Amino acid sequence: MKTLIKVAPAAAILTMGFALSSYPADGAAASESPNAVKYADVQKVFNRHCLKCHDEHKSGDAIILTSFEMVMKGGKDGKIVIKGDASKSPLFLAISGAPGHSAMPPKGRKLSAKDIHLIQDWIESGAEK
Ligand code: HEC
Repeated sequence: MKTLIKVAPAAAILTMGFALSSYPADGAAASESPNAVKYADVQKVFNRHCLKCHDEHKSGDAIILTSFEMVMKGGKDGKIVIKGDASKSPLFLAISGAPGHSAMPPKGRKLSAKDIHLIQDWIESGAEK
């Protein structure tokens, strides 16, 4: 029975390490869903792929993607994010190249599947800031 005594603490330490490392570094509330997407990560995608056309300094395009508030405001045709429903959100439909929407970005490579999923999850989980 000696081996068990040696193995058990090692397993306990491993399990603890795993549990600790799966918590967000900023110590978010434990009640938060583990799949909740942080808006900050969504903004990073816009910063990298969209702002050259969708920032405040571009004229003739009402959709501004520089902040949570502007994204939620939408454009002249209305909201681009429908909280909880990606399939009704022009933002998601445009990045996923859905028929009837201008594919975004309009030229070059589309967003990676990972970035598209990130935005989808963010909308589906309630599009919180
Ligand atoms: C090369 C410039 C350019 C880039 C880059 C670009 N857009 Fe656009 N976007 C436009 C223009 C121009 C329009 C308005 C005319 C149109 O719908 O084609 C538009 C329209 C949109 C719309 C409304 C489409 C609809 O069908 O309702 C959304 C949403 C959007 N863009 C999101 C994005 C996102 C998100 C990105 C980054 C992944 C992005 N755009 C990158 C130029 C751009």
